[in-house]
Amino acid sequence: MIQVRVPATSANMGPGFDSIGVALQLYNRLWVEEIPSGVQIELRKKQAIEIPTDETNLIYQTMCRFYETIGRPMPGVHMIQEDDIPMVRGLGSSAACIVGGLLAANELAGRPCSKEELAVMAAQMEGHPDNSNPAFFGSMVVGALDEKNMKHVRLELPDDLFFAIMVPNFPVSTEMARGVLPSAYSRGDVVFNVSRAALLVASLMAGKYENLEMAMEDRIHQPYRKELIPHMEEIFAKAKESGATACYLSGAGSTLMAMVTKDKADTFREQMSAYFAALPDGWQLMLLQADMEGAAVVTEA
Ligand code: HSE
Repeated sequence: MIQVRVPATSANMGPGFDSIGVALQLYNRLWVEEIPSGVQIELRKKQAIEIPTDETNLIYQTMCRFYETIGRPMPGVHMIQEDDIPMVRGLGSSAACIVGGLLAANELAGRPCSKEELAVMAAQMEGHPDNSNPAFFGSMVVGALDEKNMKHVRLELPDDLFFAIMVPNFPVSTEMARGVLPSAYSRGDVVFNVSRAALLVASLMAGKYENLEMAMEDRIHQPYRKELIPHMEEIFAKAKESGATACYLSGAGSTLMAMVTKDKADTFREQMSAYFAALPDGWQLMLLQADMEGAAVVTEA
């Protein structure tokens, strides 16, 4: 069987709404093989949210879209899905299905498309490239999309940086979280985000990590979505007090993200675990490193 591995991703890095995302060392796996006809889907891990095992499955639908795009009939497929990325939590689980489906379908079809072409398809399907790009290319990726094109640049990240995901027990749907955003912004807010997005990229390129706290501020989505995440600002304040360099709302939520340098990681873990034990909503804390490889077809040894 063809095996594909896709990392979790954290989109909307700081001021980079719908543009900047990072891949994390937490993975979904997918096995696919051709069968004479129809669709058979097996799920290896149960999540709280039900995953369809018929034609409405997102990976299967993505594979159908791929075959339609390359102008070939969709073959029968048997697939096995093993999901470790928490669903509907702002960690790119839908993008992982789309990226995994495209990569597996491309492999099954004899690789008619390059990874770059697949990344454009994924971004168009999602409507924004901030999850699909890091899922494809790993590390931190800055991307922009229009009707025809998607341009992106992958940036290296310092290797002593942890991404602490703080995941509550409630989901937030992207559709609902996009619905709470205004349709227009003041010039002050636009300048605020443009200057910080530029500062974020420039500071990472120049190794000026002391700029990150300011460079990660946002006025495009966090002020509006904080109502959907009880205690968000309090958790950010506690995370910074416990040593985090910067914090942001991961994707559309509900996961909150803290960037923590290696030297502060133990203290951060200890203090935040004690803090979460006293909060409602079952917050889980995991310190992850960035995934540098992106989605890959796995060759079994
Ligand atoms: N950039 C997207 C959003 C990520 O915030 O709506 C979630 O899919």
